[in-house]
Amino acid sequence: MDKFVIEGGERLIGNVKISGSKNAALPLLAATLLQKGVYEIENVPKLKDINTMSKLFAVLGAKVQWIKEGVLQVDTTGVENYVAPYELVKQMRASVLVLGSLTGGLKRAVVSYPGGCAIGERPINLHIQGLQALGCDVTIKEGYVDVNAKKLRGARIRFDTTTVGGTENIMMAAVLAKGETIIENAAREPEVVDLARMLKKMGAKIEGEGTEIIKIKGVDELTPCKYTVIPDRIETGTFLIACGITRGNIVIEGCNPGHIKALLDKLKEAGMDITEDGDKIKASMTKKRASAVDIKTAPYPGFPTDMQAQIMALMTVSRGVSAITEIIFENRMMHAAELRRMGADIKVIGNTAIVRGVKMLSGAKVMATDLRASASLILAGLTAYGKTEILRIYHLDRGYEAIEEKLKKLGAKIERVKDEGLGA
Ligand code: EPZ
Repeated sequence: MDKFVIEGGERLIGNVKISGSKNAALPLLAATLLQKGVYEIENVPKLKDINTMSKLFAVLGAKVQWIKEGVLQVDTTGVENYVAPYELVKQMRASVLVLGSLTGGLKRAVVSYPGGCAIGERPINLHIQGLQALGCDVTIKEGYVDVNAKKLRGARIRFDTTTVGGTENIMMAAVLAKGETIIENAAREPEVVDLARMLKKMGAKIEGEGTEIIKIKGVDELTPCKYTVIPDRIETGTFLIACGITRGNIVIEGCNPGHIKALLDKLKEAGMDITEDGDKIKASMTKKRASAVDIKTAPYPGFPTDMQAQIMALMTVSRGVSAITEIIFENRMMHAAELRRMGADIKVIGNTAIVRGVKMLSGAKVMATDLRASASLILAGLTAYGKTEILRIYHLDRGYEAIEEKLKKLGAKIERVKDEGLGA
């Protein structure tokens, strides 16, 4: 198993190019199951989660191949199988995104019921209720969600909780349903908007994406298309914090600053100099330590839960005391215990972490517990005195394309090495 070894203390300087968004690419790939044919998806990041989705597609009867750097060709012509097996869904919860597209496309889906994960229980009750409202017959059998959609028809659906995956699944099922669907309390995340845009390019009739109410008029068929994935806002945010925590000076290229307004506001409040310039962000934090800021995660356009761990790393070395509250997932503070091993002063009370900034962290061996927690440990390692070893970095490979290469180009001392020890 690989680990990262980081020698902290280097200021990050230079330019970094942002990859396509993992959380946009996965539902876009799922959407190709709605209509048989050949699709080209551009700006797809090379990540483990994309490989897992490709494996799932192979099982369903689709062919997925890289035809150029960043371009995936997806041929769903031969898709006949509608069973997403346990072995793949357990590797990646986002496999559940084929629930909506198989329902819409084949009118039948049998998808392994995803279990909980490190950050929380993550039920899919709202996906199921939404499909039932659309006239589907849904049963849970032997660990599988079995959807029969012979009578797929539009409906008014109100989500009790804002759900990104739930909104995406219902959108995908509804575009080929008879009649009109109205989704209330819909997720407004840029990834949901990206999916709506691709579906519209395929001929779907959707209005209101990016607002709380999405209206969909079902159509009889769609057309395969070419589509380009939006830049990854969480990767963008992670590099911004890498700049802040090392008191660096970087230019982030190929990003969408409009997608991370809540984060940019907090980083400015913490004392970062930030200039937006089209698809670039110039950021610097050269002379000062960050000031403590309070954070509360929220659905978009609020502060993203996927940036909570990374901003906590920044707050561990800030001036003052910061309160960080996580409201989306019930167990997303596991990085706090690892950051403490590096000398951070963090007290977790319920779903709030009280972080008292210290002048310096010290390198240590730490364990990555989930994707964004892993990113926060890298950030901490970049500023810590001495050597940090991060074990279990396979979590990072699920969601950050070539992270060590990009960090090295900015001057970080980070190496991927085989871990021969007992602790991996
Ligand atoms: C998406 O997960 C992202 N994953 C997550 O990214 C992200 O953290 C999350 O949205 C929130 O922004 C992908 O896009 C592939 P939700 P998703 O349904 O769709 C509750 C990362 O690090 N809920 O919006 O699974 C749920 O438990 C990750 O890249 C129900 O109660 O999240 C949570 O508390 C991890 N019932 C809240 O809603 C349901 O049926 C939001 O979850 C569905 C959700």
